[in-house]
Amino acid sequence: MQLLASLFVLLSVFHIAIAAPEKYPAIELLVRQDTAAAPANPCADYSMTANMSVISANSSYRTAFMQKAPVGTIITARMLNAAQAKLPALTADTQLNSQCGNLTAVALAEAEKNFTQGIVAQFTTEGLPVGIKAGPEVILIVGAITSLMSAVWVFSG
Ligand SMILES: *[C@@H]1O[C@H](CO)[C@@H](O)[C@H](O)[C@H]1NC(C)=O
Ligand SMILES: *[C@@H]1O[C@H](CO)[C@@H](O)[C@H](O)[C@H]1NC(C)=O
Ligand SMILES: *[C@@H]1O[C@H](CO)[C@@H](O)[C@H](O)[C@H]1NC(C)=O
Ligand SMILES: *[C@@H]1O[C@H](CO)[C@@H](O)[C@H](O)[C@H]1NC(C)=O
Repeated sequence: MQLLASLFVLLSVFHIAIAAPEKYPAIELLVRQDTAAAPANPCADYSMTANMSVISANSSYRTAFMQKAPVGTIITARMLNAAQAKLPALTADTQLNSQCGNLTAVALAEAEKNFTQGIVAQFTTEGLPVGIKAGPEVILIVGAITSLMSAVWVFSG
């Protein structure tokens, strides 16, 4: 059981290390929303979802963003896909659109404008392609999860 506890600690440490969310509030917002319930500020949520979804849907933006995003590609891809899946419902929500303005239209226009200026979301496209941190931690995590699964299997079996 000591081993199991250590593995749990190890897992959470790596999880936090990978996401480093406090430095990237925008990404934290979306990563959280992926799992969490209704947002406190619907307009901020709509805005972020629209901005990320536009990036997700356009392969040029998406490629640049994936290369610039500070968290691993798996987390980034999941976040973008979640935003893209979530946006249509928000775009169609007339109440939300009258409350916040049509932020889908804003995001489409602004993302294009940003991109022509070499900006995708909060990142510049300067110096692409760059390596991002995605390798060793992922292997460690997968390894840790695998050990955890086998440990549970052995202990309960
Ligand atoms: C989304 O993009 C718009 C237009 O560039 C910007 O005004 C807004 O702050 C962005 N929303 C978020 C949550 O970053
Ligand atoms: C908001 O703008 C998008 C893109 O221009 C459009 O498809 C959508 O119908 C608009 N939504 C509302 C509620 O006007
Ligand atoms: C992505 O955005 C660029 C620049 O705004 C545009 O030229 C291109 O047609 C878009 N691609 C897709 C697949 O929508
Ligand atoms: C456009 O760029 C600004 C400044 O970097 C950023 O705050 C905003 O979120 C970007 N808008 C979109 C839709 O990506």
